[in-house]
Amino acid sequence: MTTSKMSSSRVVIIGTGAVGATTAYTLLLRERVSELVLIDANHERALGEALDMNHGLPFTGGVKLWAGDYSDCADADIVIIAAGASQRPGETRIDLLKRNAGIFDSIIQNIVKYNDHGIILVATNPVDILTYVSWKKSGFPTNRVIGSGTLLDSARFRYLIGQNKGINPRSIHAHIVGEHGDSELPLWSLANVAGVGLEFEEQERSDIFSRTKNAAYEIINAKGSTSYAIALALDRIVVSILQDEGSVLNVSTLLTDYKGISDVYLGIPSVVDRSGVREILDLNLNDQELEQLRASANKLKSEIEKLEL
Ligand code: LAC
Repeated sequence: MTTSKMSSSRVVIIGTGAVGATTAYTLLLRERVSELVLIDANHERALGEALDMNHGLPFTGGVKLWAGDYSDCADADIVIIAAGASQRPGETRIDLLKRNAGIFDSIIQNIVKYNDHGIILVATNPVDILTYVSWKKSGFPTNRVIGSGTLLDSARFRYLIGQNKGINPRSIHAHIVGEHGDSELPLWSLANVAGVGLEFEEQERSDIFSRTKNAAYEIINAKGSTSYAIALALDRIVVSILQDEGSVLNVSTLLTDYKGISDVYLGIPSVVDRSGVREILDLNLNDQELEQLRASANKLKSEIEKLEL
């Protein structure tokens, strides 16, 4: 994807840990925005990240970047939330819910204090539930509150299928939907290359999906956290919004009477443009896929109920 200059656009990133900082660096390297603001509860850390990236500007180009505060959200087109605890080895994403839901109250209050028109893009896990929390607490319309969803899982799925078939993952159309987490499901029935269905042995399917679903655990065990691919996924969403692309991306979006599923955020292929989520695609699922999607929805809804929002 070529570097794409934006007309004047501002992205604010809240949380400059591994995901937030790597996302900032990705947007900077690819010059996706004209202004990039880093906010962290530890302002010193945000200052250090901004300083380190600004020293590279002579090699990259014209992005104005600074460590700021919530007042900088006033002119933000997109506010990315990457703040909070990340998984420790062996922890599930749901295990993070209590800790991370607690900090979202103040984060959302501080955003809406200054911004009532932007798009909130959530990356903090458990992302589907925290995107739902962000929607509820912000009062923003659903199309403007988006989670990174299963875009990253689908990228992993496409990568592994590409490895199996010896085909570049950019030519593989394949989707993971549902929770960005242990109840996600693969849409084998829709996987294709140029519209041609993909055949796999049962064991191949099992291996590919297991490695897709468990990728984060594997990476966390190896290096402590994930950052690069999620940053690239967030970059992809940012570009589709700011360039009004209308790309179909597996973002986490609120489902309302979607195949009998309502009042929950799940990763489903959706059209993403300057308005946020413009349309959720009505996928042609087989019975097994539909049953698994509903199970994923029910798992998240039971966790949401515990929050007593
Ligand atoms: C992962 C994190 C972003 O799957 O949940 O890498």
